[in-house]
Amino acid sequence: MNKMNCDISAVLFDEYKIQTRIHELGLEISNSYRGSIPVLIGILKGGFIFLADLARSITIPIEVDFLAISSYGSNTSSSGVVKIRKDIDIDISGRDVIVIEDIVDTGLSLAYIKDYLWQHKPASLKTCVLLDKPDAHKTDVTFDYIGFSIKNEFVVGYGLDYAEKYRNLPFIGILKEELYR
Ligand code: IMP
Ligand code: MG
Repeated sequence: MNKMNCDISAVLFDEYKIQTRIHELGLEISNSYRGSIPVLIGILKGGFIFLADLARSITIPIEVDFLAISSYGSNTSSSGVVKIRKDIDIDISGRDVIVIEDIVDTGLSLAYIKDYLWQHKPASLKTCVLLDKPDAHKTDVTFDYIGFSIKNEFVVGYGLDYAEKYRNLPFIGILKEELYR
Protein backbone atom coordinates (compact mmCIF):
# COMPACT_ATOMS: atom_id res chain seq x y z
CA MET A 1 0.00 0.00 0.00
CA ASN A 2 1.10 3.54 -0.77
CA LYS A 3 2.65 4.99 2.40
CA MET A 4 1.06 8.43 1.84
CA ASN A 5 -2.46 6.95 1.91
CA CYS A 6 -2.18 6.48 5.69
CA ASP A 7 -2.08 10.27 6.10
CA ILE A 8 -5.45 10.78 4.38
CA SER A 9 -8.67 10.73 6.42
CA ALA A 10 -11.02 10.63 3.41
CA VAL A 11 -10.87 10.63 -0.38
CA LEU A 12 -12.98 13.48 -1.76
CA PHE A 13 -12.49 12.91 -5.49
CA ASP A 14 -10.98 9.79 -7.03
CA GLU A 15 -9.16 9.69 -10.37
CA TYR A 16 -12.32 8.85 -12.28
CA LYS A 17 -14.32 11.74 -10.82
CA ILE A 18 -11.49 14.18 -11.49
CA GLN A 19 -11.00 13.05 -15.09
CA THR A 20 -14.73 13.12 -15.84
CA ARG A 21 -15.03 16.71 -14.60
CA ILE A 22 -11.88 17.79 -16.43
CA HIS A 23 -13.25 16.40 -19.71
CA GLU A 24 -16.41 18.46 -19.22
CA LEU A 25 -14.34 21.59 -18.56
CA GLY A 26 -12.16 20.84 -21.61
CA LEU A 27 -15.22 20.56 -23.82
CA GLU A 28 -16.71 23.79 -22.43
CA ILE A 29 -13.45 25.69 -23.01
CA SER A 30 -13.03 24.22 -26.52
CA ASN A 31 -16.54 25.39 -27.45
CA SER A 32 -16.14 28.86 -25.94
CA TYR A 33 -12.78 29.62 -27.59
CA ARG A 34 -13.38 28.25 -31.10
CA GLY A 35 -11.54 30.49 -33.59
CA SER A 36 -9.08 31.73 -30.95
CA ILE A 37 -5.80 30.29 -29.67
CA PRO A 38 -6.04 30.90 -25.92
CA VAL A 39 -2.99 31.02 -23.69
CA LEU A 40 -3.38 28.74 -20.68
CA ILE A 41 -1.33 30.04 -17.76
CA GLY A 42 -0.77 27.40 -15.11
CA ILE A 43 -0.05 28.64 -11.61
CA LEU A 44 2.87 26.72 -10.14
CA LYS A 45 3.30 24.60 -8.38
CA GLY A 46 -0.14 23.33 -7.40
CA GLY A 47 -1.72 23.67 -10.87
CA PHE A 48 0.77 21.52 -12.80
CA ILE A 49 -1.18 18.25 -12.90
CA PHE A 50 -4.53 19.95 -13.49
CA LEU A 51 -3.07 21.92 -16.41
CA ALA A 52 -1.48 18.79 -17.90
CA ASP A 53 -4.80 16.91 -17.91
CA LEU A 54 -7.00 19.88 -18.85
CA ALA A 55 -4.74 20.79 -21.80
CA ARG A 56 -5.22 17.28 -23.22
CA SER A 57 -9.00 17.57 -22.87
CA ILE A 58 -9.07 20.73 -24.98
CA THR A 59 -9.55 20.06 -28.69
CA ILE A 60 -8.65 23.49 -30.13
CA PRO A 61 -5.10 24.87 -30.47
CA ILE A 62 -3.74 26.43 -27.29
CA GLU A 63 -0.48 27.82 -25.98
CA VAL A 64 0.80 27.05 -22.50
CA ASP A 65 2.78 29.14 -20.06
CA PHE A 66 3.43 29.16 -16.34
CA LEU A 67 3.50 31.70 -13.54
CA ALA A 68 5.11 30.68 -10.27
CA ILE A 69 4.08 32.51 -7.15
CA SER A 70 4.63 32.00 -3.49
CA SER A 71 2.42 33.38 -0.80
CA TYR A 72 3.74 34.02 2.64
CA GLY A 73 1.89 32.54 5.55
CA SER A 74 1.72 29.38 7.58
CA ASN A 75 1.80 26.06 5.78
CA THR A 76 -1.97 25.71 5.67
CA SER A 77 -3.21 29.27 5.25
CA SER A 78 -2.39 32.05 2.85
CA SER A 79 -1.39 35.53 4.00
CA GLY A 80 -2.28 37.21 0.72
CA VAL A 81 1.24 38.57 0.37
CA VAL A 82 2.27 37.19 -2.99
CA LYS A 83 5.66 37.15 -4.67
CA ILE A 84 6.27 36.29 -8.34
CA ARG A 85 8.95 33.60 -8.52
CA LYS A 86 8.74 32.89 -12.27
CA ASP A 87 7.14 35.27 -14.72
CA ILE A 88 5.31 34.35 -17.93
CA ASP A 89 7.35 34.14 -21.16
CA ILE A 90 4.59 34.60 -23.76
CA ASP A 91 3.49 38.15 -24.65
CA ILE A 92 -0.20 38.01 -23.69
CA SER A 93 -1.19 41.49 -24.85
CA GLY A 94 -4.26 41.16 -27.08
CA ARG A 95 -4.52 37.42 -26.34
CA ASP A 96 -7.29 35.39 -24.74
CA VAL A 97 -5.87 34.16 -21.45
CA ILE A 98 -7.14 31.43 -19.14
CA VAL A 99 -5.55 31.17 -15.69
CA ILE A 100 -5.38 27.58 -14.43
CA GLU A 101 -5.27 27.37 -10.63
CA ASP A 102 -5.46 24.39 -8.30
CA ILE A 103 -7.56 25.82 -5.48
CA VAL A 104 -9.14 29.04 -4.26
CA ASP A 105 -9.04 29.34 -0.48
CA THR A 106 -9.02 32.96 0.72
CA GLY A 107 -9.01 34.08 -2.92
CA LEU A 108 -6.17 36.51 -2.23
CA SER A 109 -3.67 34.77 -4.53
CA LEU A 110 -6.06 34.63 -7.47
CA ALA A 111 -7.10 38.27 -6.97
CA TYR A 112 -3.42 39.25 -7.07
CA ILE A 113 -2.74 37.10 -10.15
CA LYS A 114 -5.69 38.59 -12.04
CA ASP A 115 -4.58 42.15 -11.25
CA TYR A 116 -1.05 41.30 -12.29
CA LEU A 117 -2.06 39.70 -15.62
CA TRP A 118 -4.52 42.50 -16.52
CA GLN A 119 -1.51 44.85 -16.48
CA HIS A 120 -0.21 42.91 -19.52
CA LYS A 121 -3.36 43.96 -21.45
CA PRO A 122 -4.81 40.62 -22.58
CA ALA A 123 -7.91 40.78 -24.82
CA SER A 124 -9.72 38.64 -22.25
CA LEU A 125 -8.80 37.01 -18.95
CA LYS A 126 -10.74 34.09 -17.54
CA THR A 127 -9.99 31.79 -14.65
CA CYS A 128 -10.38 28.05 -14.31
CA VAL A 129 -9.97 26.58 -10.83
CA LEU A 130 -10.17 22.92 -9.94
CA LEU A 131 -11.33 23.41 -6.36
CA ASP A 132 -13.09 26.24 -4.57
CA LYS A 133 -13.62 26.68 -0.84
CA PRO A 134 -16.44 29.30 -0.82
CA ASP A 135 -16.57 29.44 3.00
CA ALA A 136 -12.91 30.50 3.17
CA HIS A 137 -13.03 33.48 0.81
CA LYS A 138 -11.68 36.75 2.21
CA THR A 139 -12.22 38.73 -0.99
CA ASP A 140 -15.03 38.68 -3.56
CA VAL A 141 -12.85 37.12 -6.26
CA THR A 142 -14.83 35.52 -9.10
CA PHE A 143 -13.88 32.79 -11.55
CA ASP A 144 -15.28 31.42 -14.76
CA TYR A 145 -14.72 27.66 -14.75
CA ILE A 146 -14.72 25.56 -11.62
CA GLY A 147 -14.17 21.85 -11.04
CA PHE A 148 -15.66 21.26 -7.61
CA SER A 149 -16.75 23.26 -4.55
CA ILE A 150 -15.52 21.85 -1.24
CA LYS A 151 -15.90 22.52 2.46
CA ASN A 152 -13.26 24.46 4.33
CA GLU A 153 -10.91 21.51 4.85
CA PHE A 154 -7.25 21.12 4.01
CA VAL A 155 -6.87 18.85 1.00
CA VAL A 156 -3.87 17.30 -0.74
CA GLY A 157 -3.12 15.28 -3.85
CA TYR A 158 -3.42 15.81 -7.61
CA GLY A 159 -0.88 18.67 -7.46
CA LEU A 160 -1.86 20.02 -4.05
CA ASP A 161 0.72 19.73 -1.30
CA TYR A 162 1.26 19.98 2.38
CA ALA A 163 4.88 21.10 3.00
CA GLU A 164 5.68 20.00 -0.59
CA LYS A 165 4.45 16.42 -0.05
CA TYR A 166 1.45 14.53 -1.47
CA ARG A 167 1.38 16.30 -4.87
CA ASN A 168 1.72 12.93 -6.62
CA LEU A 169 -1.34 11.31 -5.08
CA PRO A 170 -3.67 10.54 -8.02
CA PHE A 171 -6.76 11.51 -6.00
CA ILE A 172 -7.78 14.50 -3.84
CA GLY A 173 -8.11 13.71 -0.17
CA ILE A 174 -8.42 15.35 3.23
CA LEU A 175 -5.16 15.39 5.17
CA LYS A 176 -5.46 14.02 8.71
CA GLU A 177 -5.66 17.02 11.03
CA GLU A 178 -3.11 15.69 13.52
CA LEU A 179 -0.47 16.00 10.78
CA TYR A 180 -0.62 19.78 10.68
CA ARG A 181 -2.32 20.98 13.87
P1 IMP B 1 -5.52 31.61 -1.31
O1 IMP B 1 -4.67 32.78 -1.69
O2 IMP B 1 -5.83 31.60 0.16
O3 IMP B 1 -6.77 31.47 -2.13
O4 IMP B 1 -4.65 30.34 -1.47
C1 IMP B 1 -4.37 29.79 -2.63
C2 IMP B 1 -3.19 28.86 -2.54
O5 IMP B 1 -2.99 28.26 -1.22
C3 IMP B 1 -3.52 27.71 -3.44
O6 IMP B 1 -3.13 27.99 -4.76
C4 IMP B 1 -2.76 26.57 -2.81
O7 IMP B 1 -1.43 26.57 -3.29
C5 IMP B 1 -2.78 26.89 -1.33
N1 IMP B 1 -3.90 26.16 -0.67
C6 IMP B 1 -5.06 26.67 -0.22
N2 IMP B 1 -5.85 25.72 0.30
C7 IMP B 1 -5.16 24.56 0.18
C8 IMP B 1 -5.46 23.19 0.53
O8 IMP B 1 -6.53 22.82 1.06
N3 IMP B 1 -4.49 22.29 0.22
C9 IMP B 1 -3.31 22.63 -0.37
N4 IMP B 1 -3.01 23.88 -0.72
C10 IMP B 1 -3.92 24.84 -0.45
MG1 MG C 1 -1.73 27.39 -5.94
